[in-house]
Amino acid sequence: MKIRSQLAPYQREVFQREERVVVMRSIQSMMKKIKLFRLPVAIAIAAQTLCLSAPSAQEPTARANEEMIKQEKIYGSRGAEVPKGYVTDRGLSDYAEILPAGFCPALAKLGGSDRWLDIGAGEGQAMLDYYALDDDTASQKCGRSIVKARAVALSIEDRRTEKWRQLAEIFGDDRLRYLSGRRLKQYSGEELGKFQLITDVYGGFSYTDDLSGFVERTLRLLETGGVFYTMVQNVHLENAKDKPGTTYQTLLVDAGGRDVNVCSWMKRIGCVNVGCDSKGNWEAPTELIEVRKVCGDIAVPHLKMVKYDAGNPPWRRFQLEP
Ligand SMILES: C[S@@+](CC[C@H](N)C(=O)[O-])C[C@H]1O[C@@H](n2cnc3c(N)ncnc32)[C@H](O)[C@@H]1O
Repeated sequence: MKIRSQLAPYQREVFQREERVVVMRSIQSMMKKIKLFRLPVAIAIAAQTLCLSAPSAQEPTARANEEMIKQEKIYGSRGAEVPKGYVTDRGLSDYAEILPAGFCPALAKLGGSDRWLDIGAGEGQAMLDYYALDDDTASQKCGRSIVKARAVALSIEDRRTEKWRQLAEIFGDDRLRYLSGRRLKQYSGEELGKFQLITDVYGGFSYTDDLSGFVERTLRLLETGGVFYTMVQNVHLENAKDKPGTTYQTLLVDAGGRDVNVCSWMKRIGCVNVGCDSKGNWEAPTELIEVRKVCGDIAVPHLKMVKYDAGNPPWRRFQLEP
């Protein structure tokens, strides 16, 4: 981590580059067990276990199911098993570099009763830095304020560290909360409440198999006037300055199969103002996205998932429904 934080953003992107997931021994044994069942039953059980939505309007194939099992294995990986590139400990200074420029001022503006949600928080290091008692740390240059907003870290897997436990003990669950064991879609709006600020750095936005559903749920959690900051790498950029030879990890196509960039899709969402900052000079071309909610009636153009290959992040293809 120390080495990575010393690198320029475009160099640091190397750390998040896709590593094709090696099928580990435990997956093979899991698949062997699945083969003991009749296939349709096994698929239904696995899909339910992984809580992943099956490709809509089509039966999940054995291959799609295998990819989901591989993906689950990434979330469950620990220690030496964590695949190279699955980074879970980015701090606040990393968020400041990776998210749109408005993020730090927006964080600094939050009051004591405001709420910040980080979807796909990993270890929650960014929130720990925000709450750090040592005000001299470099990370405190982002979002510096005397009064701290209430922070909620969301992760599928529990990656809380000893440091998190200590700080959460000091500040209490009401100010520094960590939620794990479920995906965003498995929480009700009432359970999570509303937020003034939502972030996602290589989190659900980059990993979900239901991109339009994910974005709709996220924006419904925002108060009107609140902002969602996110990013996505290896996509067609809004400014069209994609690097030649880019391998696209998240691809959006229209009903006719033509490429659609992620920003133009998001700009069709009702009740939001979307700003994009294309980073074509980063190692992995990345779109930084700021979404400000301006009214309550969120309507996201629906995307159907047509491909999902496990990875960190996964390789996904979505098609806009006509
Ligand atoms: C690569 S880690 C990034 C962690 C952190 N943001 C960082 O930059 O260090 C991906 C995180 O996203 C979470 N995640 C992926 N899909 C999610 C979803 N649908 N809902 C909630 N969390 C999700 C994972 O559980 C994990 O915590």
